[in-house]
Amino acid sequence: MRAHVAFNRRTSAAYRHLGIVVAGFPPAFGPGQFVMVRPPFSVDPFLPRAFSIYRITPPADGTGPTVEILYKVLGKGTQCLSRMEDGQEVEILGPLGNSFTLQDRVDIAVLVAGGIGVPPIAALARHLRHPPSAIRHCVVFLGGKTSEDILCVKDFEEASATLHVATEDGSAGTRGLITDIVEPFLRTTDLGLRTIFTCGPPGMLAAVARLAEQHEIPCQTAVEANMACGFGACMGCAIETRSNGPGPTYKLVCKDGPVFDSRELVW
Ligand code: FES
Repeated sequence: MRAHVAFNRRTSAAYRHLGIVVAGFPPAFGPGQFVMVRPPFSVDPFLPRAFSIYRITPPADGTGPTVEILYKVLGKGTQCLSRMEDGQEVEILGPLGNSFTLQDRVDIAVLVAGGIGVPPIAALARHLRHPPSAIRHCVVFLGGKTSEDILCVKDFEEASATLHVATEDGSAGTRGLITDIVEPFLRTTDLGLRTIFTCGPPGMLAAVARLAEQHEIPCQTAVEANMACGFGACMGCAIETRSNGPGPTYKLVCKDGPVFDSRELVW
């Protein structure tokens, strides 16, 4: 879909908030779903990039909804994106992939996110506030290297979530890894049926998956992968899943995910 940039704001040295107006884009999405974005002038090496949807805001002037993403400027692709200006054309495809789901009854949603894994978790917290969600309470753990990686705090406050923060350098919240404070919470707090929802860097996801298994708590995890197509055509985003047979089995992050039951994956 052809679209144009509504805004591309610098929110800190490394992070940007991009809004893209897309005529005909669905007004709703599932938390965890993503879009593929590519400026039309780009040539290799800027293949389209996958970004989790942070929010979709309704059209203000009849042109189309605004798809919002948060991204970190890391490599050539995101540097190219960071130079885009209001009104410039961009290509966008989505919403793609599956989303976090509320299976069975959940009293407490435990949300664990780090860095650029936070936006889909913020979308989930917003989603859980509204019926038919039967969540009694949302407890959020945000982690990062520094305070700059602690994103979307306002969203979690607006969702009436209880917020815990940890940073590796101690510049916000507790000094250390986020799992250092998730573990005692899971061990000492039992307020009903809990489910963990998580998104972030691979090391954090693996540690959270281990904690979930130890404490026998269901865990849904949104996985990041390099994606070239976003819809199952290139086979470039395969991820190993647990197998009952002799050989490994794989699924596609873009098509079968990005959200998986953490017990399904090989960590
Ligand atoms: Fe092409 Fe997943 S990105 S198959």
